Amino acid sequence: MEKLDSAALHQFIRTRRSVRRFDSRPVEKSTLLRILQTSISAPSAHNRQPWRFVVLENPETRAKLAAAMGHEFRHDLTRDGFSPEEVETRVKRSYQRITDAPVAIILCADLAEGDQYDDNDRAMADYTMLVQDVTLAGGTLLLAAHAEGLAGVWVCAPLFAQATVRHELGLPDHWEPLAMIQLGYPAKIPESPARKGLEAVVKYV
Ligand SMILES: Cc1cc2nc3c(=O)[nH]c(=O)nc-3n(C[C@H](O)[C@H](O)[C@H](O)COP(=O)(O)O)c2cc1C
Repeated sequence: MEKLDSAALHQFIRTRRSVRRFDSRPVEKSTLLRILQTSISAPSAHNRQPWRFVVLENPETRAKLAAAMGHEFRHDLTRDGFSPEEVETRVKRSYQRITDAPVAIILCADLAEGDQYDDNDRAMADYTMLVQDVTLAGGTLLLAAHAEGLAGVWVCAPLFAQATVRHELGLPDHWEPLAMIQLGYPAKIPESPARKGLEAVVKYV
């Protein structure tokens, strides 16, 4: 393999941004396939590859999903004590982001890929590994999109509406929705949100 310039690669990784507004350019299917193919090169525990990707292609299905998730979001925000106006603003924004994104992918963990343990601690550790595997695939997907001049954002909403997402998309019970990734050509690249310094997050022992 040709030697890649490491400084350029570091710069490339550091310049990936979460982008929430996209221009109207569609994403070619071949581009999406390349991104997915790179995403599944992520490492996984025991090479189990428990990641599952649900690409929301059908606009009606997507709108129905956004409405159903909005219903649940409204309920949660109201219970949290937000004003009715604030609730509606947030629900509308979430609906629009889900329906407007050129590409929307639900990232799931296939729990059937996990191992069975009869003690809770190891069962939890194994479940956490499945989530870690899927997260690595999702992170790789965002970098692969960046390589294509696309940008995207990891959206946690499906984690808070798992039963609704499963139901609306007809997913098997053992597919656990963990996130939605929205992708497209960026309308504008935002500034990098500040990072904590290494001294705050690294401990040498
Ligand atoms: C697990 C996870 C959940 C996130 N959930 C959301 C979300 O629901 N909505 C959103 O707009 N951004 C979400 N983000 C994006 C973060 O806000 C973003 O990564 C962070 O602000 C740093 O910005 P950057 O990605 O541009 O470096 C999420 C990111 C992660 C890793």
